Amino acid sequence: MNLSQQKILITGGSGGIGLALASAFLQTGARVVICARNEQKLQAAAASTPGLLTLSCDLADMQAVQALPERASDMLGGLTMLVNNAGMQNNLSFADTAAPIAVAGAVAEIQTNLTSLIALCAWALPVLSRSESSAIVNVSSGLAFTPKADAVVYCATKAAVHNFSQGLRYQMEDANNGVSVTEVMPPLVATEMTAGRQDGAISADQVASEVLEGLKRDQQEIRVGKVKLLAALMRLSPSLAAKILRNS
Ligand SMILES: NC(=O)c1ccc[n+]([C@@H]2O[C@H](COP(=O)([O-])OP(=O)(O)OC[C@H]3O[C@@H](n4cnc5c(N)ncnc54)[C@H](OP(=O)(O)O)[C@@H]3O)[C@@H](O)[C@H]2O)c1
Repeated sequence: MNLSQQKILITGGSGGIGLALASAFLQTGARVVICARNEQKLQAAAASTPGLLTLSCDLADMQAVQALPERASDMLGGLTMLVNNAGMQNNLSFADTAAPIAVAGAVAEIQTNLTSLIALCAWALPVLSRSESSAIVNVSSGLAFTPKADAVVYCATKAAVHNFSQGLRYQMEDANNGVSVTEVMPPLVATEMTAGRQDGAISADQVASEVLEGLKRDQQEIRVGKVKLLAALMRLSPSLAAKILRNS
């Protein structure tokens, strides 16, 4: 894939992996718009990243999600790539959390990490299809393979994103519509999401660099850093992989 001509919408691009991706894409000559909720963080990202365009959007608002691809296309003069990156992670145990809190947390996580991603793919497809070739890039996680104990709903959403991305890829291939589907599976990355538990974490810039290399090579699944090892271990010994990830 040639990156320099892309017109890219990145969800959750005001920090962490999304902002690192935005910055790396911009350096190739691509045009990039990011969306997130916090206006101050959006403005700070734009101020520190020349050329970056921003959109305010809460992915929990399905009407806003519906409008997002056309808004991005209007700003960029078209849309050739959707990067579904926004995500959230709750760390709680169902064993000792009151049900109303556990349920509210789960609903928010599923909406941000999964429902809005699926909806955005659907709403973006007609916009992406105006170009001869275009791309959907979904960010899941190494935890899509096997869960860790303290973020069970998060891991379930990432497993669903993994499965959905594979199935969506089949549909786009069968439709022969020029839309590629790529999944990005990062390991532990030092971002706001992982504050306070970053032992062994890689940087968001490292993730961005591997993602851009993978996209240039038209890789369908970009396993970043240690996730390459994890994928191999899942084939050799799924029980050992599960044991390692359980309390990671
Ligand atoms: N960090 C890791 O170790 C790691 C590992 C594997 C996979 N991942 C995945 O990588 C992606 C990025 O993670 P990260 O670590 O970079 O996270 P992060 O630093 O916490 O950034 C999350 C981004 O998503 C935005 N966001 C969150 N909820 C949103 C909503 N409802 N509507 C719109 N924007 C929203 C945030 O901005 P606002 O809060 O202003 O909305 C922010 O820009 C996520 O999908 C995550 O699951 C991360």
